[in-house]
Amino acid sequence: MTDKPQRYASWTAGKLPLPELLEIKRRGEKIVMVTAYDAPSGRLADAAGVDLILVGDSSGMVMHGRESTVAVSLDEIVFMTQWVTRGAKRPLVVADMPFGSFQVSTEQALENAIRFVKESSADAVKLEGAGAMLPRVRAIAGAGVPVMGHIGLTPQTATMLGGFKAQGRTAAKAVQLYEDALALEEAGCFAIVLEAVPAPVAEAITQALQIPTIGIGAGAACDGQVLVWHDLLGLYEGHAPRFVKQYAELAPVMQAAVADYAGEVRSGAFPEQQHAYSIPDEELALFEEALAEVRAG
Ligand code: KIV
Repeated sequence: MTDKPQRYASWTAGKLPLPELLEIKRRGEKIVMVTAYDAPSGRLADAAGVDLILVGDSSGMVMHGRESTVAVSLDEIVFMTQWVTRGAKRPLVVADMPFGSFQVSTEQALENAIRFVKESSADAVKLEGAGAMLPRVRAIAGAGVPVMGHIGLTPQTATMLGGFKAQGRTAAKAVQLYEDALALEEAGCFAIVLEAVPAPVAEAITQALQIPTIGIGAGAACDGQVLVWHDLLGLYEGHAPRFVKQYAELAPVMQAAVADYAGEVRSGAFPEQQHAYSIPDEELALFEEALAEVRAG
């Protein structure tokens, strides 16, 4: 018998409690978020000690080779979130609501947010925008599904924004972002991603909010940072935005490994005996006898 108090077995065992994010902000510590799209990346991110994992619709570009995130479907993110939640245990896993999965109506947004929680064990959802999206946030958070906001450069509506470029670079637009952030907090968001926002604007927003801001291209004053898996590991060969810091260069390492494999297959160096299975001598003899009979017809 142990002296430890009895606890109920639960899938939440070991999971970072959501309210801890507020405590991290209050303590002036930083929140670490990274994207992941499958079980191995979820497991590695967990082992590396990140707090939040975003199953981002950036998958459309870095995993599926699309030009934008717009075509990503709800089913794709549901599947990927299932894979990630199998690999990641401690971090909170946030499923990104793709374009078209929450814009049509509040009912649609709520149904789809609930789908993420029920079908893929997501801990929270993220959706882009403020304004007309505030009732969606209110309804989803009101139903008990934590919602992360996302303002600034919102890739799903990049065409309306004039492309993939920094937002809030005039006083009027910066004030709009500030007001959007306050409105998202009031609507019930537990955190807000600020993407490609000038650092002083992000700092003012971060100071004004009780909830944490997670920056990507929004300066060091944000309460946390997020980077895309492929960008941070040097796996994506497209043009990296200014705000990316690459912590490893894995693409050449992976390419060289596959080239070595190809060379060894062609030369006969792989597989070696250690990669093959044996058969007992007597069974081999019987097999050869049987084969001889089959061949003789
Ligand atoms: O889809 C994504 O990866 C994102 C992050 C860049 C915040 O939305």
